[in-house]
Amino acid sequence: MPAFPPPPVNTIDWSNVGFQVREGNPGFTVNGHIESTWSKSTGQWSPLRFVADPYMRIHGMAPALNYGQQAYEGLKAFRTPNNAAITIFRPDRNARRMQHSADVVSMPRVPEQLFLKAVRAAVALNAEFVPPHETGAALYIRPQIYGSSAQLGLTPPDEYTFAIFVIPTGVYHGTHPVKALILDEFDRAAPYGVGSAKVGGNYAPVLRWSDAARRDGYGITLHLDSARHEEVDEFSTSGFIGAIVNPDDAADVTLVAPSSQCIIDSVTSDSILEIGRSFGWKVERRAVKYTELPAFSEVMAAGTAAALVPIRSITRRSVAGSSGGGLSYDAPRTSSGSKGEEIVTYLPQRQEDAGVICLKLISQLKAIQLGKVEDTFGWCVEI
Ligand code: COI
Repeated sequence: MPAFPPPPVNTIDWSNVGFQVREGNPGFTVNGHIESTWSKSTGQWSPLRFVADPYMRIHGMAPALNYGQQAYEGLKAFRTPNNAAITIFRPDRNARRMQHSADVVSMPRVPEQLFLKAVRAAVALNAEFVPPHETGAALYIRPQIYGSSAQLGLTPPDEYTFAIFVIPTGVYHGTHPVKALILDEFDRAAPYGVGSAKVGGNYAPVLRWSDAARRDGYGITLHLDSARHEEVDEFSTSGFIGAIVNPDDAADVTLVAPSSQCIIDSVTSDSILEIGRSFGWKVERRAVKYTELPAFSEVMAAGTAAALVPIRSITRRSVAGSSGGGLSYDAPRTSSGSKGEEIVTYLPQRQEDAGVICLKLISQLKAIQLGKVEDTFGWCVEI
């Protein structure tokens, strides 16, 4: 039997991977994906099967395509030093989060053990696409579950599909500080809605807003609570973390993350907070007021795809005629189309480079994920 893990393929320029699907570039085409089917007649998930194709067969009347009955996950596999092993970062957390998302959109849960087996299989059968250790890049793992049989009425279908795709990736937003724009004219999640579920409906409606923001020079968009626009929820792609450093004692650091019920339970945020705790820093999970933003020494966006992105500034726009300006902000709730006055709420001293807190946290996270330091948390699962 050939030795495992196999070396990385030489068909990819590993120094320039990026965060994108490169269909049509044969070097990037992985071996295939994993599938399992749940049927109402058995009430069970079928044994896992390997499908040597990036395409899936799905009925055009499937609720996934018509009613958005689907959920997805994102996690990563890494190569340890000297190509000794491949590990997956905290897959148990993703298994449980996907169960929560499945509950929210009325789909059967994938049992945790089946999820873990499927993730391992998807990585093992595409192991040569796990990037070289030295690049720091990863194999991104994208589990999905969706209602896949024909169903016209608004009732659950008889069949669901669970699939796991993989793709070699770098980080989403890059590593340089990005400018953030608060979205006031669009709400990602209703107060008692589905904001905590990793379902497509929490992502697709953001596209036009984040695209417009990008055209205006903002690399990332931020959502406030939809009831009042007074508290921070999360970035469109990732979780929010603020750091407060005591000006008289640089070792006295507090990391703050929102406790909103409308946000995704970010595995990366949780890992960053745990790492912060291991440094002896304080950690608070609580409501984060919009008016608190200027008090943060650093703000970061944390997510699987994003890793940890330093935030360069946070801007809010008033609309013409509103009383925007300053921090007692009268949030504009109209869709006037006007861009209004720009109010920079958060602007740290260092803008060109990541701050020291961010650098310390990301280098420790990466060191754990890449097996450069001992994983005292027990997060990395070897396949
Ligand atoms: C991830 O970070 O894995 C996500 O699913 C976010 C997505 C917008 C790329």
